[in-house]
Amino acid sequence: MNKQEGQITWESPSNIAIIKYWGKHGIQLPENPSLSMTLSKCKTVTSLAYKPEAVPSDKVSYDFFFHGEKKDSFRAKIDSFFEKVIADFPFLKTLDFEIRSENSFPHSSGIASSASSMSALALCLCSLDEMLGRKSEDKDLNSFSDEFLSRASNYARLGSGSASRSVYPGFVTWGKHHELEGSTNLQAQPLPFEVHEFFSDYRDAVLIIDPARKSVSSRAGHKLMQGHPYALNRYKQASGNLSELLRALKTGDAESFVRITEQEALTLHALMMMSDPYFLLLKEHTLTAIDEIRNFRQEQNIPVAFTLDAGPNVHLLYPGSFAEPVEAFITERLKPLCAEEKIIFDHIGQGPEIKACP
Ligand code: PMV
Repeated sequence: MNKQEGQITWESPSNIAIIKYWGKHGIQLPENPSLSMTLSKCKTVTSLAYKPEAVPSDKVSYDFFFHGEKKDSFRAKIDSFFEKVIADFPFLKTLDFEIRSENSFPHSSGIASSASSMSALALCLCSLDEMLGRKSEDKDLNSFSDEFLSRASNYARLGSGSASRSVYPGFVTWGKHHELEGSTNLQAQPLPFEVHEFFSDYRDAVLIIDPARKSVSSRAGHKLMQGHPYALNRYKQASGNLSELLRALKTGDAESFVRITEQEALTLHALMMMSDPYFLLLKEHTLTAIDEIRNFRQEQNIPVAFTLDAGPNVHLLYPGSFAEPVEAFITERLKPLCAEEKIIFDHIGQGPEIKACP
């Protein structure tokens, strides 16, 4: 086979942040460390087909298809990503690409796809780089070294900050933190310990309260933290919450997990409400769902917790051991609050998977 022609496919999941990344500086560097749970079903499959460039140019020559349809509206984000990485991947200038991407979750579900899509694309580039630089034919391209993953996480970050965390399974941190050895703002890393078994089978029911597009892009959102009156306190709070959450994940402290998770979600929205300009993204049904979740927790003594992205949808996090009563509660009390009663049932995931390589 001609080494200069082929196709690489990666499937990469989305993740839900528990300690939120909100505010950045420099080239996609976070103002505070974050921690997320990698999902399983909400994912993007991206194929990168390549062949020698027909017309040499200094730019990246590619076509982009989303669910089989050519989509030029996605080019601005991809162009900006390529601009940041082109110096490290010289083949970007010598090959022609066809990028085909599909999400497992509906485009209108209100789920941000940048974490899964940018991590899938970064993984494709890193695999292609390995492949083109391969010295011998017998290297197993299905096994991935720590170095490969940390490199992919670094490039995923340049596409979208949260994408850096999607490269790893389970609970993942990104950003420098004094309790995490080797942690850096450049890439994410898996937890340095095994989480308590209470957290090993965690679930995320995504309640689609409003499927409309997010009303604040994360780019604009992060910018709101520049000069925000609460910025410094927020960054300090995130770091403290991360310390506490790490301890909770290690010891199986469900109560702390719930408290921190919800405080982080509400802080994110409080920050947006306090920004100039402000964004109020919580809808009536978001607030009703939060009330229902809190009441259910208090009445049943089951450690369910809600979290929110920069939008109105509610993620309900719960341990697999309580799936039955929680899912009965969801059907009875939360489903009616969702647009077309739409809920995505997801759970903690194993991280990305390579699907095809030459
Ligand atoms: O990765 P971005 O730039 O789309 O920002 C993500 C921001 C939040 O989803 C609100 C929080 C997070 O840590 O994922």
